[in-house]
This record gives sequence, structure tokens and C-alpha cells, in this order.
Amino acid sequence: MFNYKNTKISYSDSGKGNVVLLLHGFLEDATMWKNIIPHLEKRYRVIAVDLLGHGKSECYGYIHTMEDQADMLFALIADLRLRKVSLIGHSMGGYVALAFAELYPDHIRSMILLNSSAQPDSPERKINRDRAIEVVKKNSTAFVRMAVQNLFSADAHKLVSKQIEALTQQALKTPVQGIIAALEGMKIRIDREALLHFSPYPKLMIAGENDTIIPLEDVKNQTEGTKVALEIIPGGHVSTIEQEAKVLAIIIGFLKKNG
Ligand code: MLT
Repeated sequence: MFNYKNTKISYSDSGKGNVVLLLHGFLEDATMWKNIIPHLEKRYRVIAVDLLGHGKSECYGYIHTMEDQADMLFALIADLRLRKVSLIGHSMGGYVALAFAELYPDHIRSMILLNSSAQPDSPERKINRDRAIEVVKKNSTAFVRMAVQNLFSADAHKLVSKQIEALTQQALKTPVQGIIAALEGMKIRIDREALLHFSPYPKLMIAGENDTIIPLEDVKNQTEGTKVALEIIPGGHVSTIEQEAKVLAIIIGFLKKNG
């Protein structure tokens, strides 16, 4: 546990070598990386954090901006006396990685955005976030069940139903304050596409062909005219579940050159 401004932050820290920092998405926690970490820790020091208001990490406020999350991560790596990290962020974890990259550029070795985006919420998406917050206030269990269901296609529900149920059970542990604070924080996140164009370190975006949360076309547009590498894989938004082996192979390949 790390104490960040009187807020307990849970993380795992294993392996030796250059540091890889793993950032989960909304309603997830560090356990999402449990099958990936054993492969990475053979070559790297791997740190998987529960972001503010998720997993075993406490809430810090009523809105957890991407910058709040980034400041917490910076405090953690400073406490561990780490200089540079390779960031891997899934979805909201990618938004956090980009905020970290903007605030602490000297601390980045490379970055992978997995099913994520550098764009802000569209006006429609912001309205949906407000609606979601109202649902959470009334019945957070119903919201979480629906939100996790919506991350997967009908096919995925057949193929990986056990993992989806496990994710649902884990997501149901997210405190109401953490859910709302994340929705509010994602809603007000800013456009960080400039980072894709102008930041100097190697970057990779991994996109799911049928990702309904972060559409493939949007990711393609964001990488166009940049040096950001793009890997397109089958499946939807939670690639670590739907395409675990492919995601792992892509991450290992990228880190071999850039980690
Ligand atoms: C996530 O998976 O982290 C979220 O669905 C991302 C979002 O809602 O923008």
C-alpha cells in the first residue's frame, strides 16, 4: 500500500529491470493484468496500480480527473524512486497515461494505449455520462451489470462468459463514489491528440475491430499522420479478455524494442 495524501493506494510490484506501469480501465482493477504480469515480470519490473476509487485503492475526491490519477501515479513512482516508465493503459487507463505523459513527460520511456483514445468525450457522450451518474445514484448494482454487459458483443458473451462474470463480480466491488468520480473525471478530460503527434517517445495504439466504446475508425484517424504504431486485433473493448494471447504478443514485441 502507498499512502497518497491520506488516501490508500494498492499496487503490485514484481520482477526486475526497466519499469512497466499497468493502468486498468473504468470499473476494472489491477487484477485485469493477472495473466499478463507473469510473462512481463521475467524481463521487467512490473507495477500494476489500482487507480483512485477502484479496486483496493480509496477515493480521493468526488471527481477523479485524469490529472488527479496522474499526480497520484507520479507520487507513487517518486516514492519508489523510479525515473522512467513504460505505460500501458486500458481505456480509461489510457486516458490517465496521456494525462501523465502531458504532466510528467520526462518520466516516460514508451506508451501503449489499449482500446483507448486521445480524444475527449463528444457532447453526446457527456450527456450519457450524466445519465449514467443518475443511474448509479439510484442503483449502482444495475449500472455495473449493464456497463460490463455492454463492453462485450453477443459472440463474446458465448465465448468468454466465465471471464465476463468474473469481471462483473470484480466491478461490483467498485464503490459508488469511485464510479461517479471516474465518470465525472472522464467527462471533463481534455483533447490530447497533440501528444500523439509531438511527443518524442515510442507509442503504440491497439484497437479492437469491433470495439463499441472506442471505435476502430476513431483510432485509425488519430494515428494518421503520426509516428504512433497501430495494431488492429479482432474483438471488442476488453481485449485482454477477448484476445489475451494476441495482446500479450503485441505488448512483448513492442517492449522488446521500446521497453
Ligand atoms: C473504460 O473501459 O475504461 C471506459 O469504458 C472508457 C470510457 O467510458 O470512456
